Amino acid sequence: MRNSRLAMAMIASGSVLASAAAASAANLNLICSADVVICELLVETFEKEHDIDVSMVRLSSGEAYAKVRAEARNPKTDIWWGGTGDPHLQAAADGLTMAYQSPMLSELLPWAVKQAESAEYKTVGVYSGALGWGYNKDLLESKGIEPPKCWADLLDPALKGEIQVAHPSSSGTAYTALATLVQLMGEDEAFDYLKKLNENVSQYTKSGSAPVKSAARGENGVGIVFMHDAVAQAVEGFPIEVVAPCEGTGYEIGSMSIVDKARNVEEAKTWYDWVLKPQVQSLLKEAKSFQIPSNASAAVPEEAPSLDEVKLIDYDFATYGSSERRRELLERWDREIGAIAN
Ligand code: G6P
Repeated sequence: MRNSRLAMAMIASGSVLASAAAASAANLNLICSADVVICELLVETFEKEHDIDVSMVRLSSGEAYAKVRAEARNPKTDIWWGGTGDPHLQAAADGLTMAYQSPMLSELLPWAVKQAESAEYKTVGVYSGALGWGYNKDLLESKGIEPPKCWADLLDPALKGEIQVAHPSSSGTAYTALATLVQLMGEDEAFDYLKKLNENVSQYTKSGSAPVKSAARGENGVGIVFMHDAVAQAVEGFPIEVVAPCEGTGYEIGSMSIVDKARNVEEAKTWYDWVLKPQVQSLLKEAKSFQIPSNASAAVPEEAPSLDEVKLIDYDFATYGSSERRRELLERWDREIGAIAN
C-alpha cells in the first residue's frame, strides 16, 4: 500500500533513483478476515515499523479459505490473519498452510497454543470471542416485541423479518452459529430449528458482523453475531443490547496461518511474530475490536464480553474445523436452508 503512494509522489518529483529503491522494498500479501478497521490499523502500524510493503485484502473467513484453496498451485497470498478458526483448521488439514513455530508461542494463552498443536502448527490462535446477538432495544420496544434472550426466543413469530445472520459459506461467524446449533441440539434438530428461524430472517449477509451493524441503524431488530461485534455497536452509542443465549453458545478462536509455498515467507514470519506481541494485540481495543487477545500480557479491553459469564459449550474445533464436517454441513445448509431462503 505504502509503496504505490510513495512511488507516485516520487515520480511526480522526478526522483527516479529513489523510486527504484522503493520498488525493491520487500512485499507481503495479506488476507485479513477481521473487521476492516483493525485490519487497516495493523497494516499501517506494521509498515511504520518494518521496511515491508503490505498489500491487504479484507475477506470473510469462508471466502478467504476459498481464495487460498483456489490459489493452491500458485499462491498469491502469503499470510491470512484473523477470521474464525474453523476454516483455518480446514486449510491446515487440506495442506494449504505451512507449519511454523513462532518464538512467541510461549507467550500465548493455552487455547491459542492448543489451536496450533491441533493443526501441527499450521495455524495459531490470535483472539477469541463468544457467539450471541445484538438487538435494537428501541426498535423492538416500539414494535412491542419481547427481547430474545434464548435461541428458542428467536423463533417468536413477532420477529418475522427482523433477524439477520450471515451466510455460513462466506462467513465464519455464521458457520460458528451453524456448528454451535448442531452441537447444542443435534444435527437434525438444528436443521429443523434453522428452517423455522428462516421464517424470521430477512437477509443472509456476506460478512459476519454486518447483521448487527444494520440492527444498530434500525434496519432490523436482531443481528446474530459475535458478542464483541454487538458490543462495538453499543460502544458507538447505538441502542444495541448484547445477549449471551440462555441455552449456551459457541465461540471462535480467531486464527492466523502462513500459506504453503508463500512467495514472501520471511516477511510472513515477520508479520506472524510481530502480530503476536502484546503491544500489537493491544491495538485491537484501539480499533474498537473487543475480542480477547491470545497473548497473555496483551491488554484485554474492559468492554470485551467475559467468557466466564457466558454459558459456553465445549465447542469441538477438531471435528467442526475438519474438511469433511465443514463441507458436509455447508452442503446441507445450501440444500435445506439456502434453497428456501428469501
Ligand atoms: C468479525 C469479528 C471477528 C470474526 C470475524 C469473522 O470481524 O469481530 O472476531 O473473526 O467477524 O468474519 P466473517 O465475516 O468470516 O464472519
